[in-house]
Amino acid sequence: MKPAIQAHALSKKFKTGRTFVEVLKSVDFDAAHGELTMVMGPSGSGKSTLVAALSGLLRPDTGQVTALDRDLWSLPTGKIDKFRLDHCGFIFQGFNLFASLTALQQVALVLKYTGLSGRAARDKAAEALTEVGLGHRLHYRPLQLSGGEKQRVAIARALAKEPRLLFADEPTSALDGENGQLVIRLLHRAARQHGAAVICVTHDPRLEAHADRVIHIEDGRILDDLRPVHDTAPAPVLMSAGA
Ligand SMILES: Nc1ncnc2c1ncn2[C@@H]1O[C@H](COP(=O)(O)OP(=O)(O)OP(=O)(O)O)[C@@H](O)[C@H]1O
Ligand SMILES: [Mg+2]
Repeated sequence: MKPAIQAHALSKKFKTGRTFVEVLKSVDFDAAHGELTMVMGPSGSGKSTLVAALSGLLRPDTGQVTALDRDLWSLPTGKIDKFRLDHCGFIFQGFNLFASLTALQQVALVLKYTGLSGRAARDKAAEALTEVGLGHRLHYRPLQLSGGEKQRVAIARALAKEPRLLFADEPTSALDGENGQLVIRLLHRAARQHGAAVICVTHDPRLEAHADRVIHIEDGRILDDLRPVHDTAPAPVLMSAGA
């Protein structure tokens, strides 16, 4: 199957003082619809920079990103913004919620930007929040929500518009084990049930078990690209000779 997003030879340098630091070194990358692709690597290895280049947030110095059949970085800036609005969902570590809005309003706001009427946006927002287990928190503001609940609002906001591409950058790092697992299950569901290509950056090794694919990056280079074998099939019955 054709990948949902594919990058070829992405490079990015940052200038710090008089020197340039090469953060992405000719990175090739792809991710498929219906799969949870994890990008793992140490702090500073270029994970967030890669996500930013893949999602139209940060222009790479060289290389190409083909996202949903478009040559992303050849589009004019306005079209890139529109592409993000129409097709991409984002979940970041800091939640990025508005302090003065309720959970329902946070999610509905994004839906209104995509062109839904107020009523339709609110209904869809309530549905998305219920899907992440927050049906009883629709009218709470961020201050009244726990860290795990805030992250779930951010996830509902990202999922409500049913993006074809979902980018998550360290979505579990502020959460305890249980909430972290829940977030991963929701990302998994976005891939399985909604067919999104989910690209999740983490350095949490516990999450590796949930991924369809794990890509390790170090010092701006892809080290390996693995498909973990999950232990979900029933254990084989061993027959001993003569049994
Ligand atoms: N705008 C910038 N200007 C200068 N240097 C930058 C900029 N953005 C990132 N860098 C540098 O690029 C390197 C990679 O940064 P990046 O944020 O991609 O790492 P990361 O793998 O996401 O790390 P972490 O796990 O800590 O989030 C870092 O050394 C960082 O200091
Ligand atoms: Mg990062």
